[in-house]
Amino acid sequence: MESIPTTIVIFGASGDLTWRKLIPALYNSFKKGRLSERVNVVGFARRPYTDETFRAALRDGVAKFSAESFDATVWGKFAGRLHYFQGNLDVTADFPKLETTLQALEGGPSNRLYYLATAPEHYAIVVGELGAAGMAKQGPGPDVWRRIVIEKPFGRDLESALELNRAVHAVFDESQVYRIDHYLGKETAQNILFFRFANTIFEPVWNRRYVNNVQVTVSETVDVGHRAGYYDTAGVMRDMFQNHLLQLLALVAMEAPSSFSADAVRNEKAKVFESIRPVALADTVRGQYAGYRDAVGVAPDSQTPTFAALKLNIDNWRWQGVPFYLRSGKAMARKTSEIIIEFQRPPHLMFRLPEGRDFTPNILSLCIQPDEGIHLRFEAKLPDSDQEMRSVDMDFHYGSLFTGTLPEAYERLLLEALAGDASLFTRSASWKMVDPILQGWEEHNDPPLTVYPVGSWGPGEADQLLARDDRRWRLGCIDEKDGPPAAP
Ligand code: BG6
Repeated sequence: MESIPTTIVIFGASGDLTWRKLIPALYNSFKKGRLSERVNVVGFARRPYTDETFRAALRDGVAKFSAESFDATVWGKFAGRLHYFQGNLDVTADFPKLETTLQALEGGPSNRLYYLATAPEHYAIVVGELGAAGMAKQGPGPDVWRRIVIEKPFGRDLESALELNRAVHAVFDESQVYRIDHYLGKETAQNILFFRFANTIFEPVWNRRYVNNVQVTVSETVDVGHRAGYYDTAGVMRDMFQNHLLQLLALVAMEAPSSFSADAVRNEKAKVFESIRPVALADTVRGQYAGYRDAVGVAPDSQTPTFAALKLNIDNWRWQGVPFYLRSGKAMARKTSEIIIEFQRPPHLMFRLPEGRDFTPNILSLCIQPDEGIHLRFEAKLPDSDQEMRSVDMDFHYGSLFTGTLPEAYERLLLEALAGDASLFTRSASWKMVDPILQGWEEHNDPPLTVYPVGSWGPGEADQLLARDDRRWRLGCIDEKDGPPAAP
């Protein structure tokens, strides 16, 4: 039987996300033969494009952001699947018009994947209009589906996230909803569950008896650039922690799900979020890089943090007493996203350490990007010495072991949404933990914002957060000499 065609409708099609990420991802899937020949993409936006000018603009995006895989002949074939609909999200009449256009293009029953790549304030509006125009209705027949992909941010606090959820559920059933967190589409993030649960040797030590602390660092060297207008209303907690960092944390901390199904995986993650103890404001640090307020779109007295660090605890049997330290920021010294599992020290050390040398515990580093891989640091006897040891690394790099470049996160995520697999999508937004922190920061200025130099590792307070516990930030994926100074 001929498969049912699918239309991907992108709302916000003239925006950055479509140009930089979505179309290059779809193009690459098409090139690899993973996107059905029967998929059409319709872009909805206000700009007066025609199909031709829309395609030309998107071609530039693919040539730029996917330069190594761009092929003019393949593009020519793919471009024929791209269409443009000029419409205004605020004009109700444009939705039935869109429906008519889609039906004419589809010429019969067709699946639809609606993608909300608009500014977040339009999410509820578009969902409502889709409902009113009857565009969320599935069928005819059980195989014809309607799905909706919702970009981050999903709300700006718990209340607005719940409100958005209500708006979405008034039109779509939860099984039709795909909330994006692009970190979950990264190969290295997906690999965390494989590393933990497709091997036997790590899981027995993955708990409070052997792990001393866990650290998640997501540092970026870029500043807010041309996104300042959005960023100044969001800040690092909404932009990075509430989604990306907490998702990474959940992958590291969760129990083994009973299966690899979306519900089983997401149930286990939900248990982690439920077990996070409310974070004391004294265990949070917020910083802003010097010069941030000079960016166009930023309020001159902006209190928006571009860096944050925090310590949290997970109250369950596995993690009781093991602190999780999280930090993320812009305009920092190096770009690295990594998870550090720092193991306990040996209960008794019979070897003499040279004067002034501290003992280095075992450290497992899950390197999310840019040098994707895994490192395990352990102690080895220095040859030709009496009792001296050195820390050495066992490492695995995707780049040297697997051929081909790693696919962009959006490639996998779009294919999964088309296939109806929601395991790489989030179910509930984890605002519960974040909300009180934001309140403390925004309403009580507690703790105060600290300015940090561009190209640094954030405010000194972030180092003190760990030094207080006799610990320090570790970096295992990039050279430690580029790391923060050792804690005093
Ligand atoms: C986005 C944030 O979700 O993730 C950006 O809005 C951030 O501020 C980006 O730069 C980081 O993504 P990646 O994939 O480059 O680590």
